[in-house]
Amino acid sequence: MTADLFDGLETAGADREQLAPGAVILRGFARPHETELIAAIGAITAQAPFRRMVTPGGHQMSVAMTNCGSLGWVTDRSGYRYDPVDPESGKPWPPMPPLFRELAEQAATDAGFPRFAPDACLINRYEPGAKMSLHQDRDERDIGAPIVSVSLGLPATFLFGGLKRTDKTQRYRLVHGDIVVWGGPARLAFHGVAPLPDGEHGLLGRQRVNLTFRRAR
Ligand code: SIN
Ligand code: FE2
Repeated sequence: MTADLFDGLETAGADREQLAPGAVILRGFARPHETELIAAIGAITAQAPFRRMVTPGGHQMSVAMTNCGSLGWVTDRSGYRYDPVDPESGKPWPPMPPLFRELAEQAATDAGFPRFAPDACLINRYEPGAKMSLHQDRDERDIGAPIVSVSLGLPATFLFGGLKRTDKTQRYRLVHGDIVVWGGPARLAFHGVAPLPDGEHGLLGRQRVNLTFRRAR
């Protein structure tokens, strides 16, 4: 990774919105890298195509998923887990591109979580109508590390609640290029995505793609 990757990217005054202590939206943070990010997603999904996985309860998810990095998040009838191998191909997940790692680390640092070293990147594809129910990210061994979530393509409504499922949720509109980081006291906050409204995005068409970086081990 070139040391000057982030030259020209003004982060100090970046537009930010605090969701809760430990949780922030960095507006437009990924925008300068949109072309390379989308090209990299194309290369990853050529090797590990999007697929709609099944929950342990037997429901097919509306969001299609794939992964890159040394571990990938998967679900099937036996449960949720991080797996070094793509169960569809029997091969390791495609490696995490250096740009992904660098961008996630930079966003985490900006949000107050320096030295974030993600080993897993879940890639979610939402087509119109797809949603993600309220959940906690708790399959990671080390919850000392934050979650870094990059939004690309169509706008979505992100739901962000508290540490209990029944806590009130706030709604935030996430658009192309926004990054949400949550960690520390917010690390186990319940969150989700409302059904995706239809639309057409200039670069990605009728979909939203979300990259979620985690430290799984
Ligand atoms: C997730 O919680 O894994 C996805 C969040 C999002 O799509 O913004
Ligand atoms: Fe999540």
